[in-house]
Amino acid sequence: MWIIIYFYTFRLIFIFIKVSFELLVFKSFRLISNKFILIKFIYIKNLLCDTMLRGIRYSSTLAPWRTNRNKVLDTIVKADGSYIYTKQQKLVDFTSGSMVVNLGHNNKYIQKGFTDYMSQGFAYVPSSLSTYNRELLSDRLLDISKMDNGKVFYTNAGADSNEIASFITKEYNYYNSDIRFDKTKILSFSKSFHGASTKGSSLLSGDSRTLEQKKFIDNPIDAIMENPSMDDDGSSSLKQIKTIFENSNTISAIIIEGSSGSAGCILYPPNYLKQLEQLCRDHNILIICDEVMSGFCRTGPMFAHFKQDIKPDIITCAKGLTSGYTPLGAVIINSKVSSVFNNNPIMAGLTYSGHPLGCLIANKCLDLYLENDMELSTIAHNKGLLMNDLCTKISTKYSFIKEYRSNGLLGCFELDFDPHQIEYVYQLLLKNGIYCVNIRNNIFTAPPLTINTELFVETIQKIDDVFNECIYLDILWNI
Ligand SMILES: Cc1ncc(COP(=O)(O)O)c(C=O)c1O
Repeated sequence: MWIIIYFYTFRLIFIFIKVSFELLVFKSFRLISNKFILIKFIYIKNLLCDTMLRGIRYSSTLAPWRTNRNKVLDTIVKADGSYIYTKQQKLVDFTSGSMVVNLGHNNKYIQKGFTDYMSQGFAYVPSSLSTYNRELLSDRLLDISKMDNGKVFYTNAGADSNEIASFITKEYNYYNSDIRFDKTKILSFSKSFHGASTKGSSLLSGDSRTLEQKKFIDNPIDAIMENPSMDDDGSSSLKQIKTIFENSNTISAIIIEGSSGSAGCILYPPNYLKQLEQLCRDHNILIICDEVMSGFCRTGPMFAHFKQDIKPDIITCAKGLTSGYTPLGAVIINSKVSSVFNNNPIMAGLTYSGHPLGCLIANKCLDLYLENDMELSTIAHNKGLLMNDLCTKISTKYSFIKEYRSNGLLGCFELDFDPHQIEYVYQLLLKNGIYCVNIRNNIFTAPPLTINTELFVETIQKIDDVFNECIYLDILWNI
């Protein structure tokens, strides 16, 4: 015990002396700005808080998308409804984890699924066999997607759903064209996010099935489509895409998000997707619609693309499918595309494809999404309008907020701040009891659909207060 106290005390004194020395020396030689001093100050303050409140325990887990040196990750010890708890703090989970927990934490109805599962006794059922819940889920997913007679292929999450979808389109084109390697490209928007794993794993395997697979996955995917802009109703983007289509006959599919998420909630102008759909049909190009983040009433309707009345050939989903209670992804394929697999093998397979626990939990979630004539969808729609109204008003108050954009309960503030300032805002939100995902210079707002209205409005008000505290950041940073 005493050794630990001595160690931390010594360590703190050492860091304090080191940083003070650095500041003194550098400042006297005018090698650093006030901005640098402020960063160091925040660093020491955080370090002191870490040490005093919880003792320093650097995480052994690699946190994604950031540097990991001396990283202390907050430990969540429990959660309930729209709240998550660390040992010291109660936080409003204002982005449903990573836009996952649509139905809120600690939902007793969903939790009952775990005991139901245990009572069945089986740990796992291979995808070459069936379970009641897997079949039921497939029928329901096809039903809500309006894809009669199609098929569903299960995955573990969002990225692998998109990977499977991408080579399904290539396989489809392979079996439907005379020149078999003709149509191999998948296009996506230059600002988009479809996951960050797995393509490599398929290519790495030295097994004979991989050689077959390679025909469909060892092909280019180009993020070259220009995102639409509201200023011209997306016409420049459509023109650019039309030119690409007319000058290439190698495109098998495009992949779009039902509604943009991590890229910064870039909105589709009204009727834009309908026109894009027509372009694809004219050029015989399939449409994959990624509903991983925007699906399951996140933007109001069950899937975000319903708002623009398009009919994709493939829909990919994950996240809200199980509201985060278990990992599960699904690729929902219309009958035109899936019928190709009546006589040709699908060259894909995962150990946990349609894991029986995931499918059971997904059915529980679907019960809730569909309950009372999809009441949750209406709630998400109405709260979404309110969120847009309140947050847009906030965005006009501060010069450092470029814009607030949202669709239903999926929105973000785009800040005109550098990464250190953004980190400061993120930490200040945490300090004020609010967890909001931050990606690049965007702070997201995407609470559980089930959040109560009072807490919802109160949290947005607190976000406003935090931004208010940040006004001085802008000034200090620019001294
Ligand atoms: C639109 C979209 N597609 C795919 C993914 C990747 O999903 P996962 O992280 O479950 O693989 C994400 C993740 O945020 C996403 O937002």
